[in-house]
Amino acid sequence: MKVWAARFRDPLDPAFERWQRSFPFDRRLLKYEIAASRAQARALKNAGILLSDELISILRGLDHIAEQAAASPAFLEDEEAEDVHHFVEKQLVSLVGDAGYKLHTGRSRNEQVATDLRLYVRDAIDDLRLKLAEWLDGLIVRAEQAGNAAVPAYTHLQRAEPVLVSHWLLAYVEMFLRDAERLADCRKRGNACPLGSGAVAGTTITLDRRAIAEELGFDSISVNSIDATSDRDFLLEFVDTLTILSLHLSRWAEEMIVFSSQEFGFIHLPHEYSTGSSAMPQKQNPDLLELVRGKTARIAGDQNVLLIALKGLPLSYNKDLQEAQEPLFDATETMLSVLPLVTGFMKSVEFDYARMQNAAQSGFMNAWAAATYLVQRGVPFRLAHEQIAQAVQLCMEKKCELQDLKLNELREINRAFDQDFYSCLTLSSVLAIHDVPGGTAPARVQRSLEEAHDKVNHLRETMHAHA
Ligand code: ARG
Repeated sequence: MKVWAARFRDPLDPAFERWQRSFPFDRRLLKYEIAASRAQARALKNAGILLSDELISILRGLDHIAEQAAASPAFLEDEEAEDVHHFVEKQLVSLVGDAGYKLHTGRSRNEQVATDLRLYVRDAIDDLRLKLAEWLDGLIVRAEQAGNAAVPAYTHLQRAEPVLVSHWLLAYVEMFLRDAERLADCRKRGNACPLGSGAVAGTTITLDRRAIAEELGFDSISVNSIDATSDRDFLLEFVDTLTILSLHLSRWAEEMIVFSSQEFGFIHLPHEYSTGSSAMPQKQNPDLLELVRGKTARIAGDQNVLLIALKGLPLSYNKDLQEAQEPLFDATETMLSVLPLVTGFMKSVEFDYARMQNAAQSGFMNAWAAATYLVQRGVPFRLAHEQIAQAVQLCMEKKCELQDLKLNELREINRAFDQDFYSCLTLSSVLAIHDVPGGTAPARVQRSLEEAHDKVNHLRETMHAHA
Protein backbone atom coordinates (compact mmCIF):
# COMPACT_ATOMS: atom_id res chain seq x y z
CA MET A 1 0.00 0.00 0.00
CA LYS A 2 1.13 3.54 -0.76
CA VAL A 3 2.33 5.70 2.11
CA TRP A 4 -0.38 8.23 1.27
CA ALA A 5 -3.16 5.85 0.11
CA ALA A 6 -5.66 6.55 2.91
CA ARG A 7 -6.55 9.92 1.41
CA PHE A 8 -7.84 8.32 -1.82
CA ARG A 9 -11.06 6.54 -2.65
CA ASP A 10 -9.98 5.02 -5.95
CA PRO A 11 -6.80 3.13 -6.69
CA LEU A 12 -4.29 4.60 -9.11
CA ASP A 13 -4.53 3.90 -12.77
CA PRO A 14 -2.05 0.99 -13.15
CA ALA A 15 -0.22 2.56 -16.09
CA PHE A 16 0.15 5.85 -14.24
CA GLU A 17 1.25 3.98 -11.14
CA ARG A 18 4.08 2.24 -12.98
CA TRP A 19 5.02 5.38 -14.85
CA GLN A 20 5.49 7.62 -11.83
CA ARG A 21 7.58 5.20 -9.76
CA SER A 22 11.15 6.26 -9.12
CA PHE A 23 12.32 3.07 -7.40
CA PRO A 24 13.76 1.61 -10.63
CA PHE A 25 16.42 4.37 -10.47
CA ASP A 26 16.38 5.88 -6.98
CA ARG A 27 17.34 2.49 -5.51
CA ARG A 28 20.85 3.89 -5.94
CA LEU A 29 20.04 6.02 -2.90
CA LEU A 30 19.32 3.04 -0.65
CA LYS A 31 22.58 3.27 1.29
CA TYR A 32 21.95 6.95 2.04
CA GLU A 33 18.28 6.43 2.84
CA ILE A 34 19.31 3.86 5.42
CA ALA A 35 22.05 6.03 6.92
CA ALA A 36 19.67 9.00 7.16
CA SER A 37 16.97 6.79 8.68
CA ARG A 38 19.37 5.59 11.35
CA ALA A 39 20.19 9.18 12.32
CA GLN A 40 16.50 10.07 12.30
CA ALA A 41 15.67 7.10 14.54
CA ARG A 42 18.26 8.14 17.12
CA ALA A 43 16.93 11.70 17.11
CA LEU A 44 13.36 10.42 17.56
CA LYS A 45 14.49 8.34 20.54
CA ASN A 46 16.13 11.40 22.09
CA ALA A 47 12.95 13.39 21.45
CA GLY A 48 10.96 10.78 23.36
CA ILE A 49 9.04 9.41 20.35
CA LEU A 50 10.76 6.04 20.17
CA LEU A 51 11.36 3.72 23.12
CA SER A 52 14.84 2.24 23.57
CA ASP A 53 13.82 -1.21 22.38
CA GLU A 54 12.00 0.29 19.39
CA LEU A 55 15.16 2.15 18.46
CA ILE A 56 17.20 -1.03 18.76
CA SER A 57 14.85 -3.03 16.58
CA ILE A 58 14.64 -0.23 13.98
CA LEU A 59 18.43 0.00 13.79
CA ARG A 60 18.70 -3.79 13.46
CA GLY A 61 15.98 -3.79 10.82
CA LEU A 62 17.78 -1.10 8.82
CA ASP A 63 21.03 -3.09 9.04
CA HIS A 64 19.21 -6.15 7.85
CA ILE A 65 17.80 -4.29 4.82
CA ALA A 66 21.30 -3.09 3.93
CA GLU A 67 22.69 -6.63 4.25
CA GLN A 68 19.99 -8.16 2.13
CA ALA A 69 20.39 -5.53 -0.56
CA ALA A 70 24.12 -6.21 -0.65
CA ALA A 71 23.63 -9.97 -0.73
CA SER A 72 21.06 -10.19 -3.49
CA PRO A 73 20.00 -7.79 -6.23
CA ALA A 74 16.71 -9.69 -6.45
CA PHE A 75 15.79 -8.23 -3.06
CA LEU A 76 15.33 -4.90 -4.81
CA GLU A 77 12.95 -6.26 -7.41
CA ASP A 78 9.91 -4.82 -5.70
CA GLU A 79 7.06 -3.98 -8.06
CA GLU A 80 5.11 -2.27 -5.34
CA ALA A 81 7.67 0.15 -3.93
CA GLU A 82 6.99 3.64 -5.24
CA ASP A 83 10.40 4.97 -4.36
CA VAL A 84 13.39 4.18 -2.17
CA HIS A 85 11.72 5.82 0.83
CA HIS A 86 8.62 3.67 0.46
CA PHE A 87 10.77 0.58 -0.07
CA VAL A 88 12.68 1.04 3.17
CA GLU A 89 9.55 1.74 5.17
CA LYS A 90 7.80 -1.33 3.71
CA GLN A 91 10.73 -3.59 4.45
CA LEU A 92 11.20 -2.17 7.90
CA VAL A 93 7.58 -2.67 8.86
CA SER A 94 7.72 -6.25 7.61
CA LEU A 95 10.78 -6.81 9.81
CA VAL A 96 9.94 -4.93 12.99
CA GLY A 97 6.19 -4.32 12.84
CA ASP A 98 4.51 -1.06 13.83
CA ALA A 99 7.66 0.51 15.27
CA GLY A 100 8.71 0.81 11.63
CA TYR A 101 5.85 3.25 10.99
CA LYS A 102 7.03 5.42 13.86
CA LEU A 103 10.22 6.20 11.98
CA HIS A 104 8.29 8.51 9.70
CA THR A 105 7.20 10.70 12.62
CA GLY A 106 7.83 14.33 11.79
CA ARG A 107 9.53 13.39 8.55
CA SER A 108 8.72 14.01 4.91
CA ARG A 109 10.02 12.41 1.74
CA ASN A 110 10.77 15.93 0.54
CA GLU A 111 13.56 16.33 3.08
CA GLN A 112 14.58 12.68 2.77
CA VAL A 113 15.24 12.86 -0.95
CA ALA A 114 17.07 16.16 -0.53
CA THR A 115 19.27 14.51 2.11
CA ASP A 116 19.91 11.28 0.21
CA LEU A 117 20.91 13.19 -2.93
CA ARG A 118 23.36 15.35 -1.01
CA LEU A 119 24.94 12.25 0.48
CA TYR A 120 25.10 10.60 -2.94
CA VAL A 121 26.79 13.64 -4.48
CA ARG A 122 29.26 13.85 -1.60
CA ASP A 123 30.29 10.22 -2.02
CA ALA A 124 30.52 10.61 -5.78
CA ILE A 125 32.79 13.64 -5.35
CA ASP A 126 35.10 11.71 -3.02
CA ASP A 127 35.28 8.82 -5.43
CA LEU A 128 35.86 11.09 -8.42
CA ARG A 129 38.62 13.04 -6.69
CA LEU A 130 40.41 9.80 -5.95
CA LYS A 131 40.13 8.72 -9.57
CA LEU A 132 41.20 12.17 -10.74
CA ALA A 133 44.31 11.94 -8.56
CA GLU A 134 45.22 8.66 -10.28
CA TRP A 135 44.65 10.15 -13.72
CA LEU A 136 46.80 13.16 -12.76
CA ASP A 137 49.55 10.87 -11.48
CA GLY A 138 49.49 9.10 -14.84
CA LEU A 139 49.88 12.37 -16.75
CA ILE A 140 52.74 13.47 -14.50
CA VAL A 141 54.56 10.15 -14.88
CA ARG A 142 54.37 10.48 -18.67
CA ALA A 143 55.62 14.06 -18.41
CA GLU A 144 58.58 12.91 -16.33
CA GLN A 145 59.39 10.06 -18.69
CA ALA A 146 59.48 12.44 -21.65
CA GLY A 147 62.71 14.04 -20.37
CA ASN A 148 63.96 16.63 -22.86
CA ALA A 149 61.89 15.43 -25.80
CA ALA A 150 60.19 18.23 -27.73
CA VAL A 151 57.00 18.46 -29.73
CA PRO A 152 55.45 21.29 -31.73
CA ALA A 153 52.93 23.42 -29.88
CA TYR A 154 50.13 24.54 -32.15
CA THR A 155 47.99 27.60 -32.50
CA HIS A 156 45.17 27.37 -35.03
CA LEU A 157 46.42 23.78 -35.40
CA GLN A 158 49.41 25.19 -37.27
CA ARG A 159 52.89 24.62 -35.93
CA ALA A 160 53.73 27.55 -33.66
CA GLU A 161 56.69 26.93 -31.36
CA PRO A 162 58.50 23.89 -30.02
CA VAL A 163 57.79 22.92 -26.41
CA LEU A 164 58.89 20.12 -24.15
CA VAL A 165 56.55 17.13 -24.30
CA SER A 166 56.39 17.44 -20.51
CA HIS A 167 55.25 21.04 -20.85
CA TRP A 168 52.45 19.97 -23.16
CA LEU A 169 51.30 17.23 -20.76
CA LEU A 170 51.46 19.59 -17.79
CA ALA A 171 48.90 21.79 -19.54
CA TYR A 172 46.43 18.95 -19.03
CA VAL A 173 47.53 18.55 -15.42
CA GLU A 174 46.51 22.16 -14.77
CA MET A 175 43.12 21.66 -16.39
CA PHE A 176 42.32 18.57 -14.34
CA LEU A 177 43.63 20.11 -11.12
CA ARG A 178 41.07 22.87 -11.59
CA ASP A 179 38.38 20.21 -11.98
CA ALA A 180 39.45 18.56 -8.72
CA GLU A 181 39.29 21.94 -7.02
CA ARG A 182 35.85 22.65 -8.42
CA LEU A 183 34.65 19.30 -7.07
CA ALA A 184 36.01 20.10 -3.61
CA ASP A 185 34.33 23.48 -3.72
CA CYS A 186 31.03 21.96 -4.72
CA ARG A 187 31.33 19.40 -1.89
CA LYS A 188 31.81 22.18 0.62
CA ARG A 189 28.74 24.12 -0.39
CA GLY A 190 26.51 21.06 -0.68
CA ASN A 191 27.44 19.58 2.68
CA ALA A 192 24.54 20.91 4.77
CA CYS A 193 21.89 18.62 6.23
CA PRO A 194 18.23 19.22 5.24
CA LEU A 195 16.79 16.73 7.77
CA GLY A 196 14.42 18.49 10.14
CA SER A 197 13.03 20.66 7.33
CA GLY A 198 9.94 18.45 7.11
CA ALA A 199 7.73 18.82 4.06
CA VAL A 200 8.36 22.56 3.71
CA ALA A 201 7.93 24.41 7.01
CA GLY A 202 10.16 22.44 9.38
CA THR A 203 9.36 19.28 11.29
CA THR A 204 6.64 19.19 13.90
CA ILE A 205 8.80 17.35 16.47
CA THR A 206 11.67 19.15 18.14
CA LEU A 207 14.59 17.13 16.86
CA ASP A 208 18.24 17.73 17.51
CA ARG A 209 19.11 18.65 13.94
CA ARG A 210 22.78 19.16 14.72
CA ALA A 211 23.14 15.65 16.13
CA ILE A 212 21.54 14.22 12.96
CA ALA A 213 23.85 16.30 10.76
CA GLU A 214 26.89 15.23 12.73
CA GLU A 215 26.05 11.55 12.52
CA LEU A 216 25.76 11.87 8.75
CA GLY A 217 29.04 13.75 8.41
CA PHE A 218 27.48 17.05 7.31
CA ASP A 219 29.35 20.26 8.13
CA SER A 220 26.20 22.18 9.03
CA ILE A 221 22.42 22.15 8.98
CA SER A 222 20.42 23.86 6.25
CA VAL A 223 19.17 27.29 7.24
CA ASN A 224 15.73 27.57 5.71
CA SER A 225 13.25 24.70 5.43
CA ILE A 226 11.65 25.99 2.21
CA ASP A 227 15.02 26.34 0.52
CA ALA A 228 16.29 23.02 1.91
CA THR A 229 13.45 21.00 0.41
CA SER A 230 13.51 22.68 -2.98
CA ASP A 231 17.21 23.39 -3.48
CA ARG A 232 19.00 21.34 -6.13
CA ASP A 233 21.88 23.78 -6.68
CA PHE A 234 24.31 21.16 -5.46
CA LEU A 235 23.23 18.90 -8.34
CA LEU A 236 23.58 21.70 -10.85
CA GLU A 237 27.03 22.63 -9.58
CA PHE A 238 28.15 19.03 -9.50
CA VAL A 239 26.94 18.09 -12.97
CA ASP A 240 28.24 21.40 -14.28
CA THR A 241 31.65 20.49 -12.87
CA LEU A 242 31.39 17.09 -14.53
CA THR A 243 30.52 18.81 -17.80
CA ILE A 244 33.70 20.90 -17.63
CA LEU A 245 35.73 17.86 -16.63
CA SER A 246 34.35 15.83 -19.52
CA LEU A 247 34.98 18.74 -21.84
CA HIS A 248 38.63 18.68 -20.76
CA LEU A 249 38.75 14.95 -21.39
CA SER A 250 37.18 15.50 -24.77
CA ARG A 251 39.82 18.05 -25.76
CA TRP A 252 42.53 15.67 -24.59
CA ALA A 253 40.91 12.81 -26.54
CA GLU A 254 40.63 14.95 -29.66
CA GLU A 255 44.31 15.83 -29.50
CA MET A 256 45.23 12.20 -29.01
CA ILE A 257 43.10 11.21 -31.99
CA VAL A 258 44.75 13.81 -34.19
CA PHE A 259 48.23 12.87 -32.95
CA SER A 260 47.56 9.19 -33.64
CA SER A 261 46.63 9.80 -37.29
CA GLN A 262 49.22 8.81 -39.87
CA GLU A 263 49.56 12.48 -40.79
CA PHE A 264 50.93 13.30 -37.33
CA GLY A 265 52.12 9.90 -36.13
CA PHE A 266 53.15 11.32 -32.73
CA ILE A 267 51.53 8.52 -30.77
CA HIS A 268 50.84 4.84 -31.36
CA LEU A 269 47.51 3.62 -30.08
CA PRO A 270 47.65 0.81 -27.55
CA HIS A 271 46.04 -2.36 -28.85
CA GLU A 272 44.22 -2.83 -25.54
CA TYR A 273 42.20 0.32 -26.16
CA SER A 274 41.64 0.26 -29.92
CA THR A 275 39.48 -1.71 -32.30
CA GLY A 276 39.72 -2.76 -35.93
CA SER A 277 37.43 -2.38 -38.86
CA SER A 278 35.16 -5.15 -40.09
CA ALA A 279 35.86 -4.02 -43.64
CA MET A 280 39.36 -2.52 -43.85
CA PRO A 281 41.97 -4.98 -42.62
CA GLN A 282 44.64 -2.32 -42.01
CA LYS A 283 42.59 -0.18 -39.62
CA GLN A 284 43.29 0.50 -35.97
CA ASN A 285 40.69 2.88 -34.65
CA PRO A 286 40.85 5.13 -31.56
CA ASP A 287 37.49 3.96 -30.18
CA LEU A 288 38.24 4.69 -26.56
CA LEU A 289 39.17 8.27 -27.38
CA GLU A 290 36.18 8.75 -29.63
CA LEU A 291 33.81 7.44 -26.99
CA VAL A 292 35.40 9.67 -24.35
CA ARG A 293 34.79 12.60 -26.69
CA GLY A 294 31.24 11.37 -27.31
CA LYS A 295 30.43 11.01 -23.60
CA THR A 296 30.85 14.76 -23.24
CA ALA A 297 27.71 15.23 -25.31
CA ARG A 298 25.89 12.97 -22.93
CA ILE A 299 27.08 14.67 -19.76
CA ALA A 300 26.40 18.12 -21.18
CA GLY A 301 22.95 16.78 -22.10
CA ASP A 302 22.40 15.68 -18.49
CA GLN A 303 23.35 19.17 -17.37
CA ASN A 304 20.79 20.61 -19.75
CA VAL A 305 18.03 18.33 -18.47
CA LEU A 306 18.75 19.51 -14.94
CA LEU A 307 18.67 23.16 -15.90
CA ILE A 308 15.44 22.84 -17.80
CA ALA A 309 13.76 20.67 -15.18
CA LEU A 310 14.47 23.27 -12.49
CA LYS A 311 13.69 26.35 -14.49
CA GLY A 312 10.46 27.99 -13.45
CA LEU A 313 9.67 25.70 -10.50
CA PRO A 314 7.85 27.53 -7.73
CA LEU A 315 9.01 26.88 -4.17
CA SER A 316 9.31 24.39 -2.73
CA TYR A 317 9.04 20.68 -3.56
CA ASN A 318 7.48 19.76 -6.91
CA LYS A 319 7.41 16.31 -8.39
CA ASP A 320 9.42 17.60 -11.36
CA LEU A 321 12.39 17.36 -9.02
CA GLN A 322 12.25 13.59 -9.39
CA GLU A 323 13.34 14.16 -13.00
CA ALA A 324 16.63 15.57 -11.72
CA GLN A 325 17.76 12.17 -10.50
CA GLU A 326 18.40 10.24 -13.69
CA PRO A 327 20.65 12.90 -15.27
CA LEU A 328 22.61 13.04 -12.02
CA PHE A 329 23.08 9.26 -11.93
CA ASP A 330 23.93 9.11 -15.61
CA ALA A 331 26.53 11.88 -15.48
CA THR A 332 28.10 10.44 -12.33
CA GLU A 333 28.27 6.86 -13.54
CA THR A 334 29.54 7.93 -16.93
CA MET A 335 32.40 9.92 -15.43
CA LEU A 336 33.24 7.25 -12.87
CA SER A 337 33.66 4.75 -15.70
CA VAL A 338 35.64 7.08 -17.98
CA LEU A 339 38.41 8.12 -15.59
CA PRO A 340 39.97 4.69 -14.93
CA LEU A 341 39.89 3.94 -18.67
CA VAL A 342 41.73 7.07 -19.73
CA THR A 343 44.21 6.44 -16.92
CA GLY A 344 44.87 2.95 -18.32
CA PHE A 345 45.17 4.36 -21.83
CA MET A 346 47.70 6.95 -20.76
CA LYS A 347 49.85 4.27 -19.13
CA SER A 348 50.11 2.23 -22.28
CA VAL A 349 50.02 4.74 -25.13
CA GLU A 350 53.36 4.90 -26.94
CA PHE A 351 54.95 8.26 -27.78
CA ASP A 352 56.98 8.48 -30.97
CA TYR A 353 59.55 10.94 -29.63
CA ALA A 354 61.62 10.81 -32.83
CA ARG A 355 58.71 12.02 -34.95
CA MET A 356 57.72 14.63 -32.41
CA GLN A 357 61.28 15.90 -32.21
CA ASN A 358 61.59 15.97 -35.96
CA ALA A 359 58.42 17.97 -36.31
CA ALA A 360 59.60 20.30 -33.56
CA GLN A 361 62.69 21.18 -35.59
CA SER A 362 61.05 22.03 -38.86
CA GLY A 363 58.45 24.44 -40.17
CA PHE A 364 60.28 27.63 -39.06
CA MET A 365 59.31 27.21 -35.47
CA ASN A 366 62.45 29.09 -34.51
CA ALA A 367 61.24 32.25 -36.28
CA TRP A 368 60.18 34.05 -33.12
CA ALA A 369 63.53 33.20 -31.54
CA ALA A 370 65.20 34.56 -34.70
CA ALA A 371 63.30 37.84 -34.40
CA THR A 372 64.30 38.01 -30.73
CA TYR A 373 67.95 37.75 -31.86
CA LEU A 374 67.50 40.96 -33.87
CA VAL A 375 65.61 42.63 -31.02
CA GLN A 376 68.55 41.97 -28.75
CA ARG A 377 70.70 43.84 -31.27
CA GLY A 378 68.52 46.91 -31.02
CA VAL A 379 66.12 46.27 -33.91
CA PRO A 380 62.50 47.28 -33.06
CA PHE A 381 60.39 44.14 -32.86
CA ARG A 382 57.97 45.09 -35.65
CA LEU A 383 60.90 45.52 -38.05
CA ALA A 384 62.59 42.35 -36.80
CA HIS A 385 59.33 40.47 -37.41
CA GLU A 386 59.20 41.79 -40.97
CA GLN A 387 62.81 40.90 -41.70
CA ILE A 388 62.50 37.35 -40.35
CA ALA A 389 59.34 36.99 -42.43
CA GLN A 390 61.46 37.97 -45.46
CA ALA A 391 64.04 35.36 -44.47
CA VAL A 392 61.25 32.76 -44.18
CA GLN A 393 60.05 33.65 -47.66
CA LEU A 394 63.54 33.19 -48.99
CA CYS A 395 63.70 29.77 -47.28
CA MET A 396 60.41 28.78 -48.86
CA GLU A 397 61.79 29.62 -52.28
CA LYS A 398 64.95 27.65 -51.53
CA LYS A 399 63.05 24.88 -49.71
CA CYS A 400 65.18 25.11 -46.59
CA GLU A 401 64.98 26.20 -42.94
CA LEU A 402 66.26 29.48 -41.43
CA GLN A 403 69.47 27.87 -40.16
CA ASP A 404 70.31 26.80 -43.73
CA LEU A 405 70.55 30.39 -45.03
CA LYS A 406 74.07 31.73 -45.62
CA LEU A 407 75.26 34.64 -43.49
CA ASN A 408 75.62 36.85 -46.58
CA GLU A 409 72.00 36.13 -47.55
CA LEU A 410 70.92 37.12 -44.07
CA ARG A 411 73.07 40.24 -44.09
CA GLU A 412 71.32 41.45 -47.19
CA ILE A 413 68.22 41.57 -45.05
CA ASN A 414 69.89 43.15 -42.00
CA ARG A 415 73.56 43.92 -41.29
CA ALA A 416 73.01 42.96 -37.62
CA PHE A 417 73.06 39.23 -38.41
CA ASP A 418 76.25 37.50 -37.29
CA GLN A 419 77.69 34.00 -36.90
CA ASP A 420 76.17 33.63 -33.39
CA PHE A 421 72.72 33.81 -34.99
CA TYR A 422 72.91 30.09 -35.83
CA SER A 423 73.33 28.96 -32.26
CA CYS A 424 70.12 30.84 -31.39
CA LEU A 425 68.18 28.69 -33.82
CA THR A 426 68.86 25.24 -32.39
CA LEU A 427 66.00 23.46 -30.71
CA SER A 428 67.62 23.64 -27.28
CA SER A 429 68.25 27.40 -27.59
CA VAL A 430 64.70 28.00 -28.72
CA LEU A 431 63.36 26.06 -25.75
CA ALA A 432 65.74 27.78 -23.34
CA ILE A 433 64.76 31.35 -24.21
CA HIS A 434 61.21 30.75 -22.96
CA ASP A 435 62.60 31.28 -19.51
CA VAL A 436 59.69 32.62 -17.48
CA PRO A 437 57.54 30.92 -14.86
CA GLY A 438 55.03 28.88 -16.85
CA GLY A 439 57.30 28.83 -19.92
CA THR A 440 58.83 25.83 -21.61
CA ALA A 441 62.53 26.38 -20.68
CA PRO A 442 63.67 23.02 -19.22
CA ALA A 443 64.49 24.38 -15.76
CA ARG A 444 61.06 26.03 -15.57
CA VAL A 445 59.31 22.84 -16.63
CA GLN A 446 61.29 20.88 -14.05
CA ARG A 447 60.03 23.28 -11.41
CA SER A 448 56.45 22.93 -12.71
CA LEU A 449 56.76 19.17 -12.53
CA GLU A 450 57.75 19.37 -8.88
CA GLU A 451 54.88 21.73 -8.20
CA ALA A 452 52.47 19.43 -9.99
CA HIS A 453 53.55 16.61 -7.68
CA ASP A 454 52.93 18.84 -4.68
CA LYS A 455 49.51 19.81 -5.96
CA VAL A 456 48.44 16.21 -6.45
CA ASN A 457 49.80 15.33 -3.00
CA HIS A 458 47.76 18.18 -1.60
CA LEU A 459 44.73 16.86 -3.43
CA ARG A 460 45.29 13.48 -1.77
CA GLU A 461 45.76 15.06 1.66
CA THR A 462 42.52 16.99 1.38
CA MET A 463 40.60 13.96 0.20
CA HIS A 464 37.79 12.51 2.31
CA ALA A 465 37.87 8.76 2.66
CA HIS A 466 35.24 7.40 0.31
CA ALA A 467 32.63 5.55 2.36
N1 ARG B 1 10.49 10.05 -5.26
C1 ARG B 1 10.28 11.39 -4.87
C2 ARG B 1 11.36 12.27 -5.55
O1 ARG B 1 12.34 11.73 -5.87
C3 ARG B 1 10.38 11.53 -3.39
C4 ARG B 1 9.75 12.75 -2.82
C5 ARG B 1 8.25 12.63 -2.91
N2 ARG B 1 7.59 13.73 -2.32
C6 ARG B 1 6.33 14.01 -2.55
N3 ARG B 1 5.84 15.05 -1.96
N4 ARG B 1 5.61 13.32 -3.40
O2 ARG B 1 11.23 13.44 -5.74
